[in-house]
Amino acid sequence: MEQNRPQWGSRAGFIMAAVGSAIGLGNIWRFPAVAYENGGGAFFLPYLFALLTAGIPLLIMEFTMGHKYRGSAPLTLTRLNKKAEWLGWWQLAISFVIATYYSVIIAWATSYSFFSFKLTWGDTPQDFLLGDYLQVAEAGQFGGFASGVLLPLVVIWIVTLGILVSGIKKGIEAATKVMLPVLVVLFLIVVIRAMTLPGALDGLEAFFQPDWSKIADGKVWIAAYGQIFFSLSVGFAIMITYSSYLPKKADITNNAFITAFSNSSFELLAGFGVFAALGFMAQQQGVPVNEVVSSGVILAFAVFPQIINEFPVANGFFGFLFFASLTLAGLTSLISIVETFVAGLQEKFNISRTVSVLVGGGLAAVLSLVFATKGGLNFLDVTDYFINQFGVVFAGFVEVILVVWVFKELDALKQHADAVSDIHLGAWWKFCLKFVTPIVLAYMMFDNIRQNITTPYGDGGYSASFLFTYGWLVAAAALVVGVIFMLIKPFGKQGRGGM
Ligand code: ALA
Repeated sequence: MEQNRPQWGSRAGFIMAAVGSAIGLGNIWRFPAVAYENGGGAFFLPYLFALLTAGIPLLIMEFTMGHKYRGSAPLTLTRLNKKAEWLGWWQLAISFVIATYYSVIIAWATSYSFFSFKLTWGDTPQDFLLGDYLQVAEAGQFGGFASGVLLPLVVIWIVTLGILVSGIKKGIEAATKVMLPVLVVLFLIVVIRAMTLPGALDGLEAFFQPDWSKIADGKVWIAAYGQIFFSLSVGFAIMITYSSYLPKKADITNNAFITAFSNSSFELLAGFGVFAALGFMAQQQGVPVNEVVSSGVILAFAVFPQIINEFPVANGFFGFLFFASLTLAGLTSLISIVETFVAGLQEKFNISRTVSVLVGGGLAAVLSLVFATKGGLNFLDVTDYFINQFGVVFAGFVEVILVVWVFKELDALKQHADAVSDIHLGAWWKFCLKFVTPIVLAYMMFDNIRQNITTPYGDGGYSASFLFTYGWLVAAAALVVGVIFMLIKPFGKQGRGGM
């Protein structure tokens, strides 16, 4: 084991970084809409099932792998078995793709934090978002830059890369220790205010009202797994990387439970806040709640501004709190997403952290410009959908199959986790990873691919070639890049040497 591997400064520091990674745009921007679209109250069944049988067991597995093998995902997997390296690179490539558009959504949130003060979005926020701000072009066209997005995007990248250059303890840990508590306080204020608005209860009722007819649909289950994996940051190398910086004596299982339950609590909180606010808006407009709900981007950046407009007092202030929360939540996650490939490149090529941040992070920053063009929203919508369904979930599935069934590491990992953790892993952990997760995911993914072929994504709004290039191809390219990186020369001294 190399002696000079950076470490978290304290247990709290690690937990905060892991929770900061988990709580992100996925919780505020994605969860409420995904839950609502996939059966409302009935979605909680697949959600809880995915959390308990796949999310938490996988999180424990990733924490254990990172802690045991002490490397970025490719190095950890190489140390687990030389033939597994490609999986690490595949996951890193997925993270890389996510970083390129995730940063852009944070940039929008940053703009909107400032727009809040003067309610710049006017009386028709959706027109403002799609017209004035994003200047949305036809699907497939770039159409030049949406100028308002560029400056905040550059700022987001400077902040993110600046924090990463400063290292694990002085950079990531120090930044998260400030950002996460501020986020929780800001967001709590927003949620409490939303819950006390007139009509809030109608919103919550709409949110929790179960539509059981959706439960038999494979897509709903994949959506639940996708949400859990994305939200918990498992399946795309983050938690392996973060736990590789833990000291030798570090409780793994307990930390995983704390991380997972903090994340789901925040997710639920966001659901409450968002739907309470939607209930308020529906009441103001005298329409049912389902007429005011929209999908991710529109919900956060058009419906929310509309709600802010209608706030009885201090609109600008609450608007700012909401979008600042979104920005902070996104930043702590973006840092973790970029850290995965910064760490991977650093170890593989034995380069300094600064060079790795500049090359890896810099390249992601440059490519993120694609999503800052006028066609960016369309690229983003499709890439996000495909990289999650056929990237994150698929890579999580392959990870379980390789670790559990091909390399038969489960017992060794259990032993390792039990040796350092207060809570010992029961038979449920092995059972879930060995049988439940692979069987359910295998079936659901098959069903999902079939459905995506018969009914292409986007309700006919996208051409087949557009879906192919920015959806299927991007997801497949991540896998190909993974294999290519494995074939490139082996790890340097730092990587291979120290075990
Ligand atoms: N876990 C992060 C999120 O939920 C990526 O947004």
